[in-house]
Amino acid sequence: MSKDRIKSLKDLRSKGLLGGGQSRIDEQHKKGKLTARERIDLLLDSGSFEEIGMLVQHRSSDFGLDRQKFLGDGVVTGRGRIGGRDVVVFSQDFTIFGGSLSEAHAEKICKIMDLALKLGVPVVGLNDSGGARIQEGVVSLGGYADIFLRNTLASGVVPQISAVLGPCAGGAVYSPAITDFVFMVKTTSYMFVTGPNVVKTVTHEDVTFEELGGAMTHATKSGVAHFAYDSEVELLQGIRKLVSFLPPNNIDDPPRSQPGDDPNRMDESLDSIVPENPNKPYDMKDVIRRIVDTGDFFEVQELYAQNLIVGFARLDGYPIGIVANQPSVLAGVLDIDASLKGARFVRFCDAFNVPLLVFEDVPGFLPGTDQEWRGIIKHGAKLLYAFCEATVPRVTVITRKAYGGAYDVMNSKHIRGDVNFAWPSAEIAVMGPKGAVEIIFRKEIEQAADKEQAIEQKVNEYREKFANPYIAAERGYIDEVILPSETRPKLISALRFLENKVDSNPKKKHGNIPL
Ligand code: HXC
Repeated sequence: MSKDRIKSLKDLRSKGLLGGGQSRIDEQHKKGKLTARERIDLLLDSGSFEEIGMLVQHRSSDFGLDRQKFLGDGVVTGRGRIGGRDVVVFSQDFTIFGGSLSEAHAEKICKIMDLALKLGVPVVGLNDSGGARIQEGVVSLGGYADIFLRNTLASGVVPQISAVLGPCAGGAVYSPAITDFVFMVKTTSYMFVTGPNVVKTVTHEDVTFEELGGAMTHATKSGVAHFAYDSEVELLQGIRKLVSFLPPNNIDDPPRSQPGDDPNRMDESLDSIVPENPNKPYDMKDVIRRIVDTGDFFEVQELYAQNLIVGFARLDGYPIGIVANQPSVLAGVLDIDASLKGARFVRFCDAFNVPLLVFEDVPGFLPGTDQEWRGIIKHGAKLLYAFCEATVPRVTVITRKAYGGAYDVMNSKHIRGDVNFAWPSAEIAVMGPKGAVEIIFRKEIEQAADKEQAIEQKVNEYREKFANPYIAAERGYIDEVILPSETRPKLISALRFLENKVDSNPKKKHGNIPL
């Protein structure tokens, strides 16, 4: 082959690597952002990236676009590995037309998504884009729709992870929104359906980009973002960590890793972690960390609906998904946000064969007009529905309160919990003692000379009768009352026992989860 041919390919590659050119790369760095390729390098195992479609260019000639062509057309796509396991990745290149999405750009993303579905590997999308390529008009909108369709068809088949690392506005937000996890970086990323200017015109509100759709807004208020990081480097490490817990698709099991922690390890400190006073809070994350392998808990949506904790950990090296009430926030009550957060996480774990472990200390659903008028009934039903339909191995530990409907919802035996443990401190009842005695002993209390004393006496009676796990255990609703200190070995043994569990739901097109 002539040297010219070799040289021209090398030249093309060098040009492709430069994206929109050095000055735009410098601009990107000046904004505190990495380039599309730098991000890929940090995301993937070193040297594992194989690019697909570096030479693609747009085909538009309107508005002088025929005189502006860049190799790659604003998105770098390809395959590579995370922790030695295959993924496909797209990374929008803001240095080319602001990462805006053209027909060709969309085709590149669709191509790797189609590959991911055929091969059963996760899709990681790194978004940094000015939205639809304005010059291409409806063709660009069609490109978005082609991606949305694939996001939807891939949902529950391969894990889909989105990082938002710059602008993501208008309809463009709906691709990340359909994917399983959204990562955002503080101060340089934002997501909104309409920006501050339109908001000002329509609702007369003055709001900054950050307040309207920054990482902290979506991590704390809307729940759209599952993770918010201080820097892109930390964010990309976060994606690597998340992927380490996940199977590549809905057929394979999550990967077991070297445990590095004794499966028989007992923890005596757990025996005194639940306070004597049932109204005193404690931190359920302490419980989780003392039980899981090496105390390593990877929390999801850490800053949103903190009364419910969800996240991934390992027991004897096997990944598990944890759902836990948090008594130190709103007493661990279930409200609308917690129900939504929990339901989505449970459904993810169920779709991808991740066993579920529930730690329960829940006083019930949150009362009040705000919750009722905003639909706690239908939103709470989502969490119930998600647990009911889950067929993965499911284990529960009731640490303290399991009251009312929340007892049923939080992975009870009745809705197919496989192994249900309780600590001796468990209180399983229709409602808390005070509320209960005020209803069932109302007349006696009214007639008592000393009402306070009468209430106290009845509360003590009620507590003695119901505030323990033994009536539920007598009925078989609890499989075993265990010492807190032995929880880790008990859980590992239960999960090992459930490893080959097979369960299914009636054949149907799809259920009708109360949306
Ligand atoms: C074509 C675009 C573009 C776009 C940016 N550029 N957005 N080109 N289509 N949508 C180009 C700019 O012309 C510029 O080109 C380069 O990208 C960088 O843009 P700047 O404006 O210089 O960057 P910055 O100041 O950082 O501002 C970024 C921005 C701004 C906030 C994203 O560019 C912007 O507002 N863009 C338009 C956003 C928008 O309205 N998009 C459509 C949304 S509706 P040069 O050559 O100068 O470097 C939508 C619908 C999706 O997306 C529907 C899906 C169903």
